[in-house]
Amino acid sequence: MRKIPRIAVLKERAPGETRVAATPETVRKFVELGAVTSIEQGAGASAYYSDDDYREAGANVAPASEVVRDADIILAIQGPDATLLGTAASGAWVAAVFDPFAKRDQVDAYASAGLEALALEFMPRITRAQSMDVLSSQSNLAGYRAVLASADIYGRALPMMMTAAGTITAARLFVMGVGVAGLQAIATARRLGAQVSATDVRSATREQIMSLGAKPVFVEAVEGIEGEGSGGYATEMSEEYQKAQAELVSSHIAKQDIVITTALIPGRPAPRLVSDAQIATMKPGSVIFDLAVPQGGNVEGSVADEVVERHGVRIIGFSNTPATMPADASALYARNVLNFLTAFWDKEAGYPVLDAEIGDAIRLTQGGKVVNERLMTA
Ligand code: NAI
Repeated sequence: MRKIPRIAVLKERAPGETRVAATPETVRKFVELGAVTSIEQGAGASAYYSDDDYREAGANVAPASEVVRDADIILAIQGPDATLLGTAASGAWVAAVFDPFAKRDQVDAYASAGLEALALEFMPRITRAQSMDVLSSQSNLAGYRAVLASADIYGRALPMMMTAAGTITAARLFVMGVGVAGLQAIATARRLGAQVSATDVRSATREQIMSLGAKPVFVEAVEGIEGEGSGGYATEMSEEYQKAQAELVSSHIAKQDIVITTALIPGRPAPRLVSDAQIATMKPGSVIFDLAVPQGGNVEGSVADEVVERHGVRIIGFSNTPATMPADASALYARNVLNFLTAFWDKEAGYPVLDAEIGDAIRLTQGGKVVNERLMTA
């Protein structure tokens, strides 16, 4: 990389993608670090950042072809098509979310193009990388949004209300999967006055659920049930566990008004947690929000970007929940990227230099090859 690196930010091209990988705030910081920063015209428009805001922060605002030419570091939300990046500097970094297991062809195209793809979703779960973790920042907003979207179409109120015309009982809301999104869903639903319960396969979540004032609902009767694998992520559970979990869920779900599912297993399709038969036991008018839809869904019959009605229950699925909150989602993502680049900025060299712990974890391609261990075994 050259002494004065060129940072490029493109307008996102994926349908429905409203976010942008740099905000005027982070552009200003890149300029202070000495980088020449260029952004494609209109790149921030759908997140309410204007070209003038970026210009004032010190960016060159230009068409894509100019922004990419000779770029050393390309920042994006979703990995851009490698064909767009042909004029970038040789070995240029592309820092984005790549979904590399599902989009292996794209990873191969990056390798062939001699680009260095850095998958931000592979950021290790270590303390110093917390501020760089785009999965956390986006999941947090998604958990919040899932509750609001569910409350919006639920035909009743969430809190208990005692009125002169009678009492409304509090809605029962059940969160399945208590990672970052699930915790925020619990907190949001509690703030709205719902009666909240939650479940997970990782036993550490039991205390977290209780500390937010919700009720933990856990499988107790199966040996060796700990579901926490490496990096704080869940592992796939045994058949025996899955059966016990299905029974537990069946008896609990029939009493719920709103169910939010968030369960994911890295590199695998999302676990199926709610069957059509279980949906049939829920009260008509109930709502399910399946946050795992982009990874195949936790709920039988959920469809991306549709509200499907089954047995009188509405099932909501968004293909890109963070994109429904573009301004905040972009601001947090952009800060994650800024934290990542500044943590590795070598003042003498004048550009960022990755260390092995984080570099090896996130680097997908280098020197014309796919180099990431997780993709070798996939
Ligand atoms: P995730 O998005 O991969 O999964 C969501 C939740 O679903 C997880 O809690 C998982 O245990 C649960 N799940 C998976 N299979 C399930 C099943 N069959 N039934 C019920 N639940 C199931 O998880 P996320 O949100 O990325 O967080 C996982 C953990 O990592 C959390 O403890 C979080 O605090 C921690 N974390 C640590 C970071 C750091 O130290 N840098 C950064 C981000 C998260």
